[in-house]
Amino acid sequence: MIFSIFFVLLALIITSIVIVPVFFGAPWHPASRKDIHRALKLCEAQPGEILYDLGSGDGRVLKIAAIDFGMEAIGLEIDPVKVWLSKQFLPKKNLSNRIKVLRQNVFDFNFKHADIVFIYMTHQALDKLFPKILETLKPTATVACYRFCLRGIQPEKVTSDKKIFIYRFNKGKSLNAYS
Ligand SMILES: C[S@@+](CC[C@H](N)C(=O)[O-])C[C@H]1O[C@@H](n2cnc3c(N)ncnc32)[C@H](O)[C@@H]1O
Repeated sequence: MIFSIFFVLLALIITSIVIVPVFFGAPWHPASRKDIHRALKLCEAQPGEILYDLGSGDGRVLKIAAIDFGMEAIGLEIDPVKVWLSKQFLPKKNLSNRIKVLRQNVFDFNFKHADIVFIYMTHQALDKLFPKILETLKPTATVACYRFCLRGIQPEKVTSDKKIFIYRFNKGKSLNAYS
């Protein structure tokens, strides 16, 4: 009996963490740490700059941005379980004021403070999200897309394995002039 309850609870938690977010933008699948480093290097991330990770999962992008690049890192995550879990694993000392995780739907957010936006979401989510992001991004901001590119928009840099796509936007252009 106890075992059945345990497995039902476990199944519910896994469903909530992995499957439910699919309906909001992307399932949970963490980026490799090596690729996060590569992406931030390609973005020319500088200490003190502000990074947003859209769908921050277990918080690994935030930790690398803050610890290895000296950035201020803010994670937006829709799943309350991952928000709670990632906060448990954040370094407590010295970095607590440089890393934040907010329970937030990325579709309802203003990115005006972002220097770098890291996104690991599906094409369908990016298609919907991109025009909204562009409305609030500052002209100097850089967007790093992981595994999924922004369809119809020419990246400034692409890695040879086609995993990382870096975009810088000239906001003087109209949206359909990007391709
Ligand atoms: C592919 S994972 C990427 C996790 C992390 N960024 C990384 O690279 O390791 C996508 C994450 O986005 C979250 N997510 C999906 N839709 C979202 C939304 N609308 N707003 C905020 N987070 C969302 C999921 O819960 C999941 O943790």
